[in-house]
Amino acid sequence: MIDIHNHILPIDDGPTDFFQSREMLHNAMNNGITHVFATPHHKNGRFLNPKSDILLKVQELNAYLVGEKLPIHIHPGQEVRIHHDIFSSIDKGEILTLNDGGKYLLLELPSNDFPHNTHEIIYELLLQRIVPIIVHPERNSILLHRPELIFELVQEGALIQITAGSITGSFGKKIRIYTEKLLKHQLVHFVASDAHNCTKRRFLLNEAYKIITKTFGLQRTLTLQTNTEALLHGKPILTAHPVPIKRGIKSFMK
Ligand SMILES: [Fe+2]
Repeated sequence: MIDIHNHILPIDDGPTDFFQSREMLHNAMNNGITHVFATPHHKNGRFLNPKSDILLKVQELNAYLVGEKLPIHIHPGQEVRIHHDIFSSIDKGEILTLNDGGKYLLLELPSNDFPHNTHEIIYELLLQRIVPIIVHPERNSILLHRPELIFELVQEGALIQITAGSITGSFGKKIRIYTEKLLKHQLVHFVASDAHNCTKRRFLLNEAYKIITKTFGLQRTLTLQTNTEALLHGKPILTAHPVPIKRGIKSFMK
């Protein structure tokens, strides 16, 4: 399995050193993961991790792991918070697409806001041949009540990644039910761990795929997994026709 979003490098709120990174990689392998995209936070108000820093840290971690012969591969990536000067960040070479040079970019919205220029930024990114993958929209408090915005983002050309823990219930019942709705309405293209450690924010990919298989069938899991392989190998992503969700979380919980 391939994990496209996690915090395995010791440069943000994940592990504090390479020893802990190694522990996390063991945890990932136990979860059946063979490839990880290391995707540190950038410009989220707490952390600045421009492309050059991440590439260097991936290189250092790989060097640290030499001799361990772990059957797991680390690829560079970045989780970029949407920000008004994202295009100057791109021009300055600070932004890192998955696999450095690929066209897919992990883009994070703030937890409690939906910036007014989100649609414009996505439109402009697509014009620049960068396909934004919106990470964990199910954990955004505005989108929880306004799922039509996720449908609009997908219609516009963005892709959606949900967190494995949202499916397993790690973030509570409300988010679990909402995530199921997103899957049901064909608004999900990837599942990723967003792992930060080996305890509360660990790799739950295997558990999440098992639930998806049980609820939506094996084919759905295979499609989601095929999409992560496509990211790795630069192949097209499989998309189904999205279906609008008409009502927010309050109506699901009744
Ligand atoms: Fe993350």
